[in-house]
Amino acid sequence: MICLIWILVSIITSLSSVQTLDNGLALTPPMGWMHWQRFRCLVDCEAYPDECISEKLFKEMADHLVSDGYLEAGYEYLIIDDCWMSKERDSEGRLQPNATRFPSGIKALSDYVHDKGLKFGIYADYGTKTCAGYPGSHGYLEIDAKTFADWGVDYLKLDGCYADLTDLQPGYIEMGNYLNQTGRPIVYSCSWPAYQEPKGVKPNYTALQDTCNLWRNWDDIDDTWSNVTSILKWFSTNQDRIASFSGVGHWNDPDMLIIGNFGLSYEQSKAQMAIWAIMAAPLIMSVDLRTIEPRFRDILLNKEIIKINQDSLGIQGRLVTTFKNIDIWTKPILPKDKNGAPSYAIGFLSNRVDGYPYMLNVTLSELNITEAEQYTIKDIFDSKTFTTSPRDKLIVRVKPSGVVLLTATPVSK
Ligand SMILES: *[C@@H]1O[C@H](CO)[C@@H](O)[C@H](O)[C@H]1NC(C)=O
Ligand SMILES: *[C@@H]1O[C@H](CO)[C@@H](O)[C@H](O)[C@H]1NC(C)=O
Ligand SMILES: *[C@@H]1O[C@H](CO)[C@@H](O)[C@H](O)[C@H]1NC(C)=O
Ligand SMILES: *[C@@H]1O[C@H](CO)[C@@H](O)[C@H](O)[C@H]1NC(C)=O
Ligand SMILES: *[C@@H]1O[C@H](CO)[C@@H](O)[C@H](O)[C@H]1NC(C)=O
Ligand SMILES: *[C@@H]1O[C@H](CO)[C@@H](O)[C@H](O)[C@H]1NC(C)=O
Repeated sequence: MICLIWILVSIITSLSSVQTLDNGLALTPPMGWMHWQRFRCLVDCEAYPDECISEKLFKEMADHLVSDGYLEAGYEYLIIDDCWMSKERDSEGRLQPNATRFPSGIKALSDYVHDKGLKFGIYADYGTKTCAGYPGSHGYLEIDAKTFADWGVDYLKLDGCYADLTDLQPGYIEMGNYLNQTGRPIVYSCSWPAYQEPKGVKPNYTALQDTCNLWRNWDDIDDTWSNVTSILKWFSTNQDRIASFSGVGHWNDPDMLIIGNFGLSYEQSKAQMAIWAIMAAPLIMSVDLRTIEPRFRDILLNKEIIKINQDSLGIQGRLVTTFKNIDIWTKPILPKDKNGAPSYAIGFLSNRVDGYPYMLNVTLSELNITEAEQYTIKDIFDSKTFTTSPRDKLIVRVKPSGVVLLTATPVSK
């Protein structure tokens, strides 16, 4: 009997050990702002006082996150990326910020951010150095986890430069345990797949789910449309292998939103926002919030797109088909009707370059949207609505490198 109970207990324990990371965080894709794509490793504060990586920059971004409606829309994490550190650890082996650029220290910045109602994120690297050459966490994982908790960090991006590929998985798991032991809930953003996948090593996605709230799968985004399309190409090519690992508390991360910078047109910006929403991607902006043009800000603040992204089912959408060089992505979302038929977000992303809005005929059943007899279709950017059956032809017009974003909601009888 005791033996039986013991076996039962071990089975239950071993079952629970394959459950996903349970720190209560990132129940929907994290939203926030991070400096890397827009501000990189700009550390010359004499030449560029308004743009250098400094407490001034982060305080100003925190102010704008609150005053311009981003926090209210859901963008709650203000995240520091690489280049905040001093080149040396302190006498007790702790990381410390560059004292010229962060004269008040990280705890004071974290307090400032928290006082605004925001959450505070920071960057470190699992290897011997950060990507930009600042101190790595290798050999210091426990002390760094404790330092971050002491500073009130709510989100850690742990990069993977200067590390052995084979060390990455055990190392990130070890850091995850130290973060847990601090007792402070900290969103854990991992980068180990982004180092393995390009080398042809298939990461263990089950271990990622067990360890991390989100993880960068692939290369960094730069400020260009070709990066958006190449990232989407990688995610759609690999979707059958990776999409199912994304879900409540643990997300694939295709990298930052580059909307409002120099590289994307207005239509391309709508396209990135729409397809990132469908992929249930973390929505991490990287743009100068002090100077962003209002029409780009409006894309980032579009409540209906954010709602698709933040849908509580947490299902990563997929590329279902391509017609006439227009990719069609779908994501099941709420509400469901009384028979359990879900709604869908449907994104039409044009890879066409013939310069007019191309007309496409498609039925919902061609997209496998057939669970309900009637759907209300809403065009998110046009706010047109109409009712259709899965057999009816929908006609959409998609601009070159632009997007049409629809929702299809079952009509309940
Ligand atoms: C702090 O950053 C400045 C560049 O802004 C650099 O010149 C200085 O050496 C750094 N100090 C430390 C201690 O790393
Ligand atoms: C630590 O892990 C346990 C077990 O998964 C979990 O219940 C707890 O909430 C975690 N604590 C923190 C602070 O992440
Ligand atoms: C992947 O990780 C999971 C959970 O950590 C483990 O149970 C499984 O054996 C690993 N799979 C491989 C192929 O290593
Ligand atoms: C982004 O574009 C640059 C320049 O073409 C390229 O080097 C880089 O690999 C691209 N990254 C992705 C993720 O496509
Ligand atoms: C639709 O679903 C069927 C059955 O599940 C599947 O074989 C087919 O590939 C799907 N088609 C699309 C466009 O997703
Ligand atoms: C779409 O369907 C309508 C009605 O069947 C037809 O008149 C039109 O030519 C079609 N357009 C395209 C681009 O296939």
